[in-house]
Order: sequence, then C-alpha cells, then structure tokens
Amino acid sequence: KRLLLLNGPNINLLGKREEEYYGEFTMQHIEENLAALVTAHGFKLDTRQSNHEGRLVDYLQEANGEYEGIIFNPAAYTHTSIALRDCIKAIETPVIEVHISNVHSREEFRRHSMLAPVCYGQIVGLGVSGYRLAAMAFMDC
Ligand code: DQA
Repeated sequence: KRLLLLNGPNINLLGKREEEYYGEFTMQHIEENLAALVTAHGFKLDTRQSNHEGRLVDYLQEANGEYEGIIFNPAAYTHTSIALRDCIKAIETPVIEVHISNVHSREEFRRHSMLAPVCYGQIVGLGVSGYRLAAMAFMDC
C-alpha cells in the first residue's frame, strides 16, 4: 500500500522562506520524516513537487488508482486553480489538502480554497505535523 506526498509551488524553498509562517523545516526533512512514519505503518511513500500547475495536474492524474491517498499542499494554487479542482474531482483517489500555516490568520485571499470542496479533507495551521496527520488519516491510525 502506498501514499503520495505532493507539494506545490515554492514548497521546495521551505527553511529559507517566511519562517514566521512555515518554520525552519526543509521540504527534504518533511519528506524523510513522513517516509519514516509511513514505513513504520507498513506503507510506502512516494514524493513529488512542482512549481507548475499543469505538472501538478499530470502528477495527480498519474497517481489515480495507484495510491491509498494523496497528501497535497497545493500552496498558492489552492486559491486560484480550477484545473487542479477539476482534476481532484475527476480522480478516484482521495486527496487531503494540507497547509502548514493557518491560512485563516493571514491575508483575506488565503482564506478561500478552490480545492477544499472536492478534497476528502483539509488540515490547516498545524505546521508540518499536518502532513503526518493526513498520513495517519489515510492509514487509519
Ligand atoms: C501554504 C499556504 C498558501 O497560502 C501559500 O501560498 C503557500 C503555503 C501553506 O502550506 O501554509 O505557499 O499552502
């Protein structure tokens, strides 16, 4: 059984980007930490990141039917992307939307997600633990 971790634009800059919101952890740290958790529960983790909207659509389409679930931080595309919304709606594999920061305590435009209505669930504001909690939900533990 497998889970996919998918990160959107600028998440590859974590650790040197707006630390007051995103903390000190790098994306590599998040990926390794999550892989350890997932492996300990008998699952395998695959990881992908892209700064490009269409590439994220490709990754989601390719993942369809291949995973128990997709843990997705769509980053800024959360607030804008009809293409990602249509894709998540079209695929059968459930997606949990994760945001490291509390998007509700920031600019008004971050409060609205185009994707949340078609996701299985959403985790917001719990730091990088949000990724772990999403994995736990998919692994039913
Ligand atoms: C983010 C929140 C988004 O609004 C922002 O564009 C990001 C990161 C988060 O994880 O808190 O890049 O998705």
